[in-house]
Amino acid sequence: MGGFSYANKPQPSSSLPPKRVVDYVTIYDFLRPLIFSLEPEFAHRLTIRSLLIGGRWFRHVEQDDPKLAVSAMGLRFSNPLGMAAGFDKDGEVPDSILDLGFGFTEIGTVTPLPQMGNPRPRVFRLPGNRALINRLGFNNKGQEMLAARLTKRSKKEKNSLGSGVLGINIGANKNSSDRIRDYGTGARNLSHLADYLTINVSSPNTPNLRRLQSREALTDIIDQVSSAAPNVPLLVKIAPDLSDQDLENVAEVGLDSGLAGIIVSNTTLDRPPSLDKKYGREQGGLSGSPLFKKSTRILGKMYRLTKGQITLVGAGGVSSGEDVLEKVRAGASLIQLYTALVYEGPSLIKKIKHDLLHLLEREGFETITDALGTDDGKK
Ligand SMILES: Cc1cc2nc3c(=O)[nH]c(=O)nc-3n(C[C@H](O)[C@H](O)[C@H](O)COP(=O)(O)O)c2cc1C
Repeated sequence: MGGFSYANKPQPSSSLPPKRVVDYVTIYDFLRPLIFSLEPEFAHRLTIRSLLIGGRWFRHVEQDDPKLAVSAMGLRFSNPLGMAAGFDKDGEVPDSILDLGFGFTEIGTVTPLPQMGNPRPRVFRLPGNRALINRLGFNNKGQEMLAARLTKRSKKEKNSLGSGVLGINIGANKNSSDRIRDYGTGARNLSHLADYLTINVSSPNTPNLRRLQSREALTDIIDQVSSAAPNVPLLVKIAPDLSDQDLENVAEVGLDSGLAGIIVSNTTLDRPPSLDKKYGREQGGLSGSPLFKKSTRILGKMYRLTKGQITLVGAGGVSSGEDVLEKVRAGASLIQLYTALVYEGPSLIKKIKHDLLHLLEREGFETITDALGTDDGKK
């Protein structure tokens, strides 16, 4: 989508696309005031609808540069950028998302039974901070509906390049009598339709869910899920608000149980003083720029604790090629983002990949994987 302008100077020593000196002006820059005049959840619904109807129109059909390819968890990703969970909760548009240029997309969080989530309003924009606060509370249409939808998908052509990886993020129902069992149910219902499964125990919007990050609960959940889905890579998504002791516990459980990956991180309960006054005190999880430093610091700690034996997925406030490289250097093999797309629009993915290739060259890395963990211990 829209109007990229590149400087016209040839760059003789590089096979890369020319470095951009004029900033992007995209169609989204014109649409943003209109979109931001709408209630955030309504605007999100409209975005999903446009992807459903016109997904192919937004298509970004370039093959990714092989320098951006990542092999992790037994899967091949054509680039390290993924759509984070929460955008496509019910798996309505996975292929349109992949067609925007993502290397992978994560559907969910989806719970065994459908549920409404918390009362509205429950999503708030903080434009001065390039941030969002949400307290959606796992609103989703349930796993039966998702399985039916994805079964149809698997019979059709997938995304245009046929290369996108699809993860499914599973959670527990708010009123479940046995939340731990809900994760096993999710694995049974959906693992055959996923390239990987994420156990979400870090949403701040389901009361007490984060307690499932404790050593005992997490061990039980991983046991249940891995016996229901022995052949699918398993990831756990953690909160950025965990103490050092909690992080050590998660790392130990992960290493002992053969976890394939850890996503660092979900949204934070922190409320930095610099947040926009209007919605800065709303309850829920804060995402976007104010989360970047904290989530990257936790990522670095987790990288040291897991000694490179578990794939780490960095999420939290990523909005540029520089941000991606910083998370990769802190230990992330893969990256997810969500909030920055609300502010920058879908062409951000192409821009990040373009900038990343230039950054790799500038920093002397042959491929993205060469940069992995190169900041170990420094941050
Ligand atoms: C509106 C919204 C809904 C979200 N819903 C989920 C969800 O259902 N499951 C989940 O694991 N994470 C969810 N997240 C968290 C994101 O996946 C991501 O971890 C977090 O927002 C940090 O990335 P970002 O700063 O790039 O947005 C949600 C985030 C937002 C903004």
